[in-house]
Amino acid sequence: MMDLNNSHAKPVRVLFVCLGNICRSPSAEGVFRKLVHEANLAAAFEIDSAGTASYHIGEPADYRAETAAAERGIDISAHRARQVHRKDFDTYDWIIAMDKSNLENLRRMCPQEQQHKLKLIMSFASRHTLDEVPDPYYGDERDFKYMLDLLQDACKGLLDWLVSMHNLQAEAHR
Ligand code: 4NP
Repeated sequence: MMDLNNSHAKPVRVLFVCLGNICRSPSAEGVFRKLVHEANLAAAFEIDSAGTASYHIGEPADYRAETAAAERGIDISAHRARQVHRKDFDTYDWIIAMDKSNLENLRRMCPQEQQHKLKLIMSFASRHTLDEVPDPYYGDERDFKYMLDLLQDACKGLLDWLVSMHNLQAEAHR
């Protein structure tokens, strides 16, 4: 059921998912955290990211993602990669995939009653018409900048949607 007023309700839990959890999803997590912080909504959210693959478990974000994020005032240096667990489908309210392949992998793992939690991140973008965030891993620094352009657009739309969906209200400044 939708919350009528989330100011005293449990946080909205959002998990961003890509393949390796070292490029796109930690970047999406960082972009979304910054938007949430700027909107004075930090207390209303729990945010994390994970990968469908196990290759990079325990590693920090790719240095190119970390550098591109830092250039936009986003610090993802504390990130450590983890894999999606079955428990995540219970824990998180929304599980946001970077591309259709991630979404398909999640759909296969996810219990029927939790399938409604799975979304494609670019479905929330308003300035870009792409439906996936391209994997920048084999690209160069321009690909990482473009990835952030896409994520900043989509995360803004996602936050607006969640604020409306859960009737979230910003904390007053003290
Ligand atoms: P990500 O990018 O899914 O955005 O973290 C990738 C990272 C690593 C690999 C592929 C994509 N890899 O093949 O190791």
